[in-house]
Amino acid sequence: MIVTIDGPAGSGKSTAARALAKKIGYEFLDTGAMYRAVAYYCLCNSIPWEDHSAVAAALPKIQLDMPLGRILLNGVDVSQEIRSSQMAEGSSKVAVIHAVREFLVAQQQAIGRGRRIVTEGRDQGTVVFPEAELKVFLVASPESRARRRFEDLQKRGETVSFEDVLKKQYERDKRDSERAEGRLVAASDALTLDTTDMSIEEVIELLIREVEKRC
Ligand code: C5P
Repeated sequence: MIVTIDGPAGSGKSTAARALAKKIGYEFLDTGAMYRAVAYYCLCNSIPWEDHSAVAAALPKIQLDMPLGRILLNGVDVSQEIRSSQMAEGSSKVAVIHAVREFLVAQQQAIGRGRRIVTEGRDQGTVVFPEAELKVFLVASPESRARRRFEDLQKRGETVSFEDVLKKQYERDKRDSERAEGRLVAASDALTLDTTDMSIEEVIELLIREVEKRC
């Protein structure tokens, strides 16, 4: 069985997907980390995220491995480096490139094939696993999403203002929602859940009930 959890930044999907996978004994796939790793590779190799042909040409040099919730880029663990606000912006810029999506979608489908997996991202229920047994789309108010992200970045030691996080989030949502492929949109058969006033525990409980209904 495949469970997809899609939604915008800060909707709680990472935390919910990771915790759900643990509770039900499924594997967990964080597809945003893959876009972030591509952006990080470009940064380290002075390839501008906006230079679509240079980014596409670099893809054969990128090897991603995702053991136990970590991400290795050409054998080096970059799990921490990719979490910065700079990589949030970079990942959404490389995510508009057709070759990047083709490259990562194929890997995600290979990882999920024949497995019991909870996978999270933007296009998991629409493009990557349209046959998934349970599709969830999480939403939350822009302010509550930015608040969660602001707290995460503060914990990481980044000096950011709430206003700036909100503004960057707006720009990223716009890029993610308006691109040609793999847009941020709920699958027609997804269960949409507004997490604005829900605790993470409530979200997880609800998701477990939905999984149980399908077993
Ligand atoms: O979820 P996360 O914030 O880590 O995702 C970073 C970026 O990667 C998103 O803003 C989006 O542009 C891109 N992404 C995507 N498709 C996915 C997952 C992430 O385009 N399945």
